[in-house]
Amino acid sequence: MRILVTGGAGFIGSALVRRLLDHGEHEVLVFDKLTYAGNLNSLASVSDSPRFSFVQADICDAAAVQGALAEFRPDVVAHLAAESHVDRSIDGPDAFIETNIVGTFVLLNQALRYWSGLSGEDKARFRFHHISTDEVFGALGEDGYFTEETAYDPRSPYSASKAGSDHLVRAWGHTYGLPVLVTNCSNNYGPYHFPEKLIPLIIIRALKGEPLPVYGDGSNVRDWLYVEDHARALQAVFERGSVGETYNIGGGAERKNIEVVRAICGILDRVQPRADGVSYADQITFVTDRPGHDYRYAIDASKIQSNLGWSPSVTFEEGIERTIRWYLENKSWWQEILDGRYATQRLGVVRNG
Ligand code: NAD
Ligand code: DAU
Repeated sequence: MRILVTGGAGFIGSALVRRLLDHGEHEVLVFDKLTYAGNLNSLASVSDSPRFSFVQADICDAAAVQGALAEFRPDVVAHLAAESHVDRSIDGPDAFIETNIVGTFVLLNQALRYWSGLSGEDKARFRFHHISTDEVFGALGEDGYFTEETAYDPRSPYSASKAGSDHLVRAWGHTYGLPVLVTNCSNNYGPYHFPEKLIPLIIIRALKGEPLPVYGDGSNVRDWLYVEDHARALQAVFERGSVGETYNIGGGAERKNIEVVRAICGILDRVQPRADGVSYADQITFVTDRPGHDYRYAIDASKIQSNLGWSPSVTFEEGIERTIRWYLENKSWWQEILDGRYATQRLGVVRNG
């Protein structure tokens, strides 16, 4: 298949692209603006492939989107381009509205125009796959899970913008017949994760001997999914999912944030002990909570398991150890980011709150 991946230079997008080029005969066009979060170094292992191409462009630019669709003629648009960090959406929501809502609208309009011009097998095969988040469902208490039927209740500028984009995608499917698929996924982690997010931030700050910031009391719960398992799920959905359907994707690995941070410290104590022999856990620091911090997310992934035969293959314990080893072995990847783009400082503190 010919797959156009928006946001393919980001964390999850690059994992999907590496998978598509490493397994099978797919042709891939990465369409990415290369914001602070986009990184061609994450695609270095596949960028020499004759089946890989790249265009640096903004999904809000209708002419650029139209040109890429006309030239590449994809069977699938896998739409991952987004502003993805909750704390940045608190500091500056503008880019989230622009890219996540307006950009998705532009992409849908151009995809519809492109798809309308197809015929026969090409038209029947086309899919628009929108990659979204479990955060659109709001926050859970101690019990319960998000299913595909859970009502939307987004609570941060980020999740509200993703909810808006989900609604647009479904509307284009319902009203115009565009063959859409939507997936809502839990927290990903793994190699090439931008160091603003909890897990890479804690690994890197631990290695640099800096305080490890835990928001609030660390009791908030996230469900963690290894990014390569997510990439495999995405491929299953656009290859075999039913048009118009939504699939929730989760790791079945709920952890309190403080448990995640302690697990990272425990592994680092074993594989790269501090010179002074003190545990990295000594660096843990409880800091002011994130404004509007959702308490718990948890996914019921039984639909994708029963309908498409997908389930996570990597446990949290395996995945976190693999991830830590990757950051230890790929210091140049993250040091380049720290030197030029983001040095792990605190984000998302409310200005007048
Ligand atoms: P990321 O921030 O690592 O990457 C986003 C990519 O999109 C970057 O390469 C960036 O350059 C590109 N981009 C941003 N704005 C663009 C624009 N206007 N035009 C073209 N490209 C643009 O994000 P990620 O963590 O890889 O997330 C990918 C998608 O998956 C997002 O839609 C996100 O909402 C969703 N998601 C992420 C997670 C997670 O845990 N990271 C979980 C569920 C869903
Ligand atoms: O649930 C899916 C979402 O997961 C995705 O849609 C988002 O794109 C992705 O960024 C992620 O959102 P979170 O807000 O859950 O991820 P983050 O890594 O920012 O934070 C994870 C948890 O850790 C959250 O409860 C806040 C907390 N945290 C985060 C940071 C950066 C800390 O305690 N300390 C920190 O320094």
